[in-house]
Amino acid sequence: MAASVRADGVWKQFQLRKDRADSVGQLLVQMIPGRKRPKAEHFWALQDVSFEVKQGRSLGVIGNNGSGKSTLLKLLTRTMQPTQGSVDLRGRMSALIELGAGFHPDFTGRENIILNASILGIGRKEIEKSMNDIIDFAAIRPFIDVPVKYYSSGMQARLGFAVAINVDPEILIVDEVLAVGDEAFQQKCMDRIFEMKRSGISILLVSHDLGSIERLMDSAIWIDQGVVRAQGNPRDVVHGYRTFLGAASSPPAAEHEVATLPKEAVYVAAAEIRVPGASGSNDPAPGDPLEISLQVANETGSPIDGYLSVSIRRPDGLEIAEISGMRDGRSVGLRPGLSTIVLSAHELRLASGSYEVDVAVFDIQGKRLAEAKAISGFRVQGTERTTGVILVPHDWRAG
Ligand SMILES: Nc1ncnc2c1ncn2[C@@H]1O[C@H](COP(=O)(O)OP(=O)(O)OP(=O)(O)O)[C@@H](O)[C@H]1O
Ligand SMILES: [Mg+2]
Repeated sequence: MAASVRADGVWKQFQLRKDRADSVGQLLVQMIPGRKRPKAEHFWALQDVSFEVKQGRSLGVIGNNGSGKSTLLKLLTRTMQPTQGSVDLRGRMSALIELGAGFHPDFTGRENIILNASILGIGRKEIEKSMNDIIDFAAIRPFIDVPVKYYSSGMQARLGFAVAINVDPEILIVDEVLAVGDEAFQQKCMDRIFEMKRSGISILLVSHDLGSIERLMDSAIWIDQGVVRAQGNPRDVVHGYRTFLGAASSPPAAEHEVATLPKEAVYVAAAEIRVPGASGSNDPAPGDPLEISLQVANETGSPIDGYLSVSIRRPDGLEIAEISGMRDGRSVGLRPGLSTIVLSAHELRLASGSYEVDVAVFDIQGKRLAEAKAISGFRVQGTERTTGVILVPHDWRAG
């Protein structure tokens, strides 16, 4: 069964918890016998939120503090129930939402790993196998037998993330708890999230790091005071939010329009890298040809003519090659359902290292219909020594 996450018209109401009287006057009023405490106030933390994340797809959730992002994740993980609407989550989910949630402070790191795994239905033997990976990823080996209550917040985040990614999830849900890790750890987590996405795991990520949302996610949703202000292509959603943040420092606009972008009816479902002629290995040597087999889904119900474009990037974002069907004048027909399109690159002259592949789909007018960042990747395994990106066939000559 394909893993997927759906929210359908989700509303969540909270009670405003005003436990204390705001003034001595109110306090005195409350003390008058027979006088009732003020009626509880309610507010909507989420209003009519809907989205779908299909298998292997990713969604970035952005918005100001208190806008409802964590609430949304908690509804998905069933930590709480929606007041109205429904959520549907299919597949094995692992989530990292609150720092220290799921950890028992008096147990050691190691004991907590076992405890967490058992909650997820993973037996002790099985988790023992992943124990070293978890400890290594978290890089907290000297503290692994110390009770978690003595961990710093960064160490808790490290352990939490290391567990979440090592329990073989089909869906990974991460709130910005990673932000308490240092920069190197945050980068390591982002790289891992990326890798997991490439291997077909669905990802939901709340982050204030707009650049990462834009670069790494296939889609994004911007929530403002519980209301969806934009959803769809991450570039457009982040742009809308940035504009709003810019405008927020000037006088507030009267009424903001809801910029709901069209739902994705066309998307890149998968991209597979092959080295023609090589048996088994998907890792090319520097001079090898490469095939990128793309599966594009068209759920519009009618055939579409379009163009594909493929970018090869270094993980730090440097674009090395962009191959564009539009510039080549080669359109492709996308029938309803899945179409497979194969791009053959005749020769790679890339230096050893990791590379990522982005794919975009455009309609015949050049409007972007879909974009999948880092949908696939490969490692070039060469023996050369260079710090550059490409290998240049060369000779040396004297005089
Ligand atoms: N259990 C709760 N009871 C009452 N109110 C709550 C509860 N949880 C969250 N809220 C309120 O709901 C609103 C949304 O909170 P939420 O934590 O989802 O925001 P957020 O977008 O994750 O913010 P941040 O960026 O600061 O993490 C806030 O006003 C918050 O005070
Ligand atoms: Mg939050």
